[in-house]
Amino acid sequence: MELPTTDADPLAGRRVLLHVSGGIAAVKVPELITRLRRAGALVRVTMSPGAQAFLRPVTLQALSGAPVATRLLDPGGEPPELAAHGMSHLTLGAWAEVQLVVPATASMLARLATGLADEIVSGTALACPAPLIVAPAMEGAMWRHPATVDNVASLRARGAQVVGPVRGRLASGREDSGRLAPLEEILAAVRRALGPGGPAPAPDGDLAGWVVVVTAGGTREPIDPVRYLGNRSSGKMGWALAAECLRRQAQVVLVTAAPPPPPRAGLRVLQVETAAEMLAAVRSVLGGARCVLMAAAVADYRVAAPSPHKRKREAEPAPVLTLVPTVDVLAAVVAERPPGCLVVGFAAETEAVLEHARRKLARKGVDLLVANQVSGEGSAMGGDQAAVTLLSPDGTERPLDRRPKAAVARAIVDAVVAAGPAGPAAGSRARE
Ligand code: CTP
Repeated sequence: MELPTTDADPLAGRRVLLHVSGGIAAVKVPELITRLRRAGALVRVTMSPGAQAFLRPVTLQALSGAPVATRLLDPGGEPPELAAHGMSHLTLGAWAEVQLVVPATASMLARLATGLADEIVSGTALACPAPLIVAPAMEGAMWRHPATVDNVASLRARGAQVVGPVRGRLASGREDSGRLAPLEEILAAVRRALGPGGPAPAPDGDLAGWVVVVTAGGTREPIDPVRYLGNRSSGKMGWALAAECLRRQAQVVLVTAAPPPPPRAGLRVLQVETAAEMLAAVRSVLGGARCVLMAAAVADYRVAAPSPHKRKREAEPAPVLTLVPTVDVLAAVVAERPPGCLVVGFAAETEAVLEHARRKLARKGVDLLVANQVSGEGSAMGGDQAAVTLLSPDGTERPLDRRPKAAVARAIVDAVVAAGPAGPAAGSRARE
């Protein structure tokens, strides 16, 4: 069954802490992570020593897009955007909106029930105030043992949700109760925990400490001192992105060719006119950027030799403008960005939107491409609403139906957060 991927999914943008303990059912964890992420969740993983006997942390690191915590007091297990002070059980515990233990072995249930924090999974679970979901998996005899029954009862009494186990073939080859619940049931429990009546949505401060550069508006390329080549971009999408990042406590540099928005705390505005000025302004702040959102409609051509004086109507013969390509701001940003900096491009298309966007995604080397239709009824250009598709390099395409640009901005920023920092090879890949 294909999972829903619209942002109505209660998992979209939510912070899910997945604890893995050491049973053979751990082999199902890679698929679980993939499905959580496909639904838009941010996933961080801890692995007990037993889990590491079944699965390599690097596998779950690759799938979750973040370092995996494998030991208590392990600085390497902290995602870089969280405080790196070697206390991953505390930082991850404070980060999570929901935590789940999959699979939960008999010994992990005992640790959780008694509060024994002697390794990373139980230590983090104890430090984490978020709702707890456990999905036990073990041999039937262990599941029925009074010790396990008591442990599960005390976890339930403290509010933990217990999903499964179900009856089926076990590691011993026997048919019995003790098989990990189907992933659909585990995902349904996570959605319930995060849905209405569940914990509060993500706080507004998840971009605290980020510097985000946003480009906005349509550049203007001079023909003479009073005339220019321009486009219909209003700058509204860029402003919406800037506002969303400010709401989430980023420092924002808005490089805009449209009129500036009113001043706001945390917002720095660099007013530009041409593509060349936009590039110079972006370059001046790129070094400290954690993310660049390129919503500007940058002119593709400029007049080769703008007239220093206003061209006169009666000029004979009528002037013919020679155009030359402008700088590609986005290409320069992709090539010059600092390590970890994510770059989001926009593709304004009038026809065959997705085909053009797919090619642009590959050509531009961006981490996310936002494709939108800019002709006909409901064009995003100049309007207050947009219907866009978010395209990722892994082939994911997420259509967002028509909605206010503020809601589009929120989905884009959620996708940026979910993507995690760009890999170290990102810049060099773009230069190849
Ligand atoms: N862009 C840019 N500099 C340019 C042209 C475009 O930085 N000179 C950026 C835009 O800000 C946008 C992305 O590139 O994020 C795609 O812009 P778009 O105009 O859709 O693509 P082009 O590369 O210009 O391709 P085409 O005009 O052929 O569709």
